Amino acid sequence: MPKLIVTTREGETSEVEVGDGLTVMETIRDNGFDELLALCGGCCSCATCHVHVDPAFADKLPPMGEDEDDLLESSDHRVATSRLSCQIPFTSDLDGLKVTIAPED
Ligand code: FES
Repeated sequence: MPKLIVTTREGETSEVEVGDGLTVMETIRDNGFDELLALCGGCCSCATCHVHVDPAFADKLPPMGEDEDDLLESSDHRVATSRLSCQIPFTSDLDGLKVTIAPED
């Protein structure tokens, strides 16, 4: 199974397996990382699934939509590698993807 490597706000890193057809947000949430609230359930309207993605994977991510860009703009913790994790379907290309849960806004 492909792997996702998640670093929490406290700096703890763990590796989790990604089930078929899940997004990065669903994978993080389903593995018990409660600090990723994902309040809207993945419909790109809350920004509580904000992560910072390892720049090494930047060119493998799907392009950012306008809604995602707007929501990230409202975050005080946006960086060049910010994404909303619900907008990243996990594909085999992303095996080994590293993400860090962004600080809470
Ligand atoms: S879960 Fe709400 S924007 Fe991603």
